Amino acid sequence: MAQVKITETVLRDSHQSLVATRMTTEEMLPILGALDKVGYHSLEAWGGATFDSCLRFLNEDPWERLRKIRAEVKNTKLQMLFRGQNILGYRHYSDDVVEYFVQKSIANGIDILRIFDALNDARNLETAIKATKKEGGHVQAAISYTTGPVYTLEYFTNYAKTLEDMGADSICIKDMAGLLKPYDAYDLVKALKETVKVPIQVHTHYTSGLASMTLMKSIEAGADIVDTAISPMALGTSQPPTESLVATLAGTEYDTGIKLEQLDEITKYFAPIREKYLASGLLDPKMLKVDVNALIYQVPGGMLSNLVSQLKQAGKSDKLTEVLEEVPRVRADAGYPPLVTPSSQIVGTQAVFNVIGGERYKMVTKEFKGLVEGQYGKSPVAIDPEFTKKIIGDTPVITCRPADNIAPELDSLREKIKPYMEQEEDVLSYALFEQVALKFFEYRKAKKYGLDSNSDASLGIHNA
Ligand code: CO
Repeated sequence: MAQVKITETVLRDSHQSLVATRMTTEEMLPILGALDKVGYHSLEAWGGATFDSCLRFLNEDPWERLRKIRAEVKNTKLQMLFRGQNILGYRHYSDDVVEYFVQKSIANGIDILRIFDALNDARNLETAIKATKKEGGHVQAAISYTTGPVYTLEYFTNYAKTLEDMGADSICIKDMAGLLKPYDAYDLVKALKETVKVPIQVHTHYTSGLASMTLMKSIEAGADIVDTAISPMALGTSQPPTESLVATLAGTEYDTGIKLEQLDEITKYFAPIREKYLASGLLDPKMLKVDVNALIYQVPGGMLSNLVSQLKQAGKSDKLTEVLEEVPRVRADAGYPPLVTPSSQIVGTQAVFNVIGGERYKMVTKEFKGLVEGQYGKSPVAIDPEFTKKIIGDTPVITCRPADNIAPELDSLREKIKPYMEQEEDVLSYALFEQVALKFFEYRKAKKYGLDSNSDASLGIHNA
C-alpha cells in the first residue's frame, strides 16, 4: 500500500526558518553519515537562502559545502530549492546564467531541484526546467500556495497540469507561510492526485500551529512525500518533527519504513546544537510560538512583523489594523500575487504608504511600479488597465517572459572576475551576489596566503 516518503529539511529550510540560515558545514558534517542511513526520500540540503548565507555571513564557499555533503551522503538523494528565473538571488537573471547554474548544481551533487516562482508564472520556470531535464536531474515543480478569491482548486489543478506538461517529475505544494489548513490540504491533494500522474509532495511550516495536522490530512488524501525536520530543529517557523510523524504512521498503510531508533542518533546530535543556538541568541524563542495572525489576516508571519516595524519607525503604530485591512485591497489591485518574497514586501510596504500617506497611491514605491509593470512576470489575475495607468502612466506593460529582455551575461561576468577565479563555479557566485561574492573571494585569497587572522564569521555575531 501507499508508503509515505520523507524529505528531511534539517540541512536547509529548518535552519533557514529558525536561525536565519546560519548552520555551518562543520556543524553538518559529523551527522551526514547517519542521515544517509535512515532511508529518507531525500535530504533538502542546499539552495534557498543557504547560498547567500554561506558567502555573506559564514565565509564559506557554497559549492564546497555541496561537494562535502555529497561526499558523505552516498545513497540518499540531495535536494535544493531553486527560485525559477531568480535562481537563488533576488532579481531575474539571463537564461545562460540559469542554465549554467543548473548544470553546475547537478555536476556538484544535486539530484532533485524544487523549482518555484513567486507569482506562479510558469514562464519563469521554463529555462530551469529544461536545463534540469537536459542534465538528467529530477524536476520538482512547486506551486506557491496562498489563499484568496482566485485560488480555487481549479486554479491549482490547472497550474499543476501546466507544470506536468512542462516536464515536472513531481509536484510540490509549497506553503511557505503556514496558511494551508488540514481540510483544505485534503481537498487540494485529492484534486491534484486526480489531475496529474506525477507524485505529490507537501511542504508547510508550523508557524500557525497546523502543520502536523495538515501533513496528516495530506497523507490521507494521497500525498506521496512530505517534508519534516528532526525534532530539535522542528516546530515554530520550521517544519513538523520527523520523529512524531514517523511514529504516527508506523504500522499503518502509510508506514514510512523508517524506524524511530534510526532517528535517535540524529535527534541526539542536534539537541546540543539547538541549545547552542538558544544560548547565543541565534534562535529566538519568539520563532517557536504559535502565531495565529497568519490565519486571521492571511499574511505570513514574517510579513506581519515587517509591517509592525515599518509602522513603529514611522511613529504610526496605532495604524496597524488599518494597514492590515489595506493589504488585501492592495493585493487585489496588483492581481492577487501570492504573498511570498518578494511580493509580500512590495505589497506590504505599499499598504503602509497608502495608510500613512492619507491617500491611496499618492506615493508609489519603485518596486510596486515594477510589479504592476510586469517585471516579475504575469500576475495571477489581470490588473485593471485603469489602475495600471494610474501607477505607471504610459510605460508599456511587459507582457513577454521578463527574462526575454535580459541579454546573456555569463561571458562579461567571467571577464570581470578573471583575477579571482579559482573554480568555474565562482562566476555563478559572482553572477548572483556580486559584491558579497567579491568580498568572499578576497577573504579566500587572503586566507590562502595566510594574510588573514580574524575575519572568521562565528555564529551569533551576524544575526540580523
Ligand atoms: Co519553506
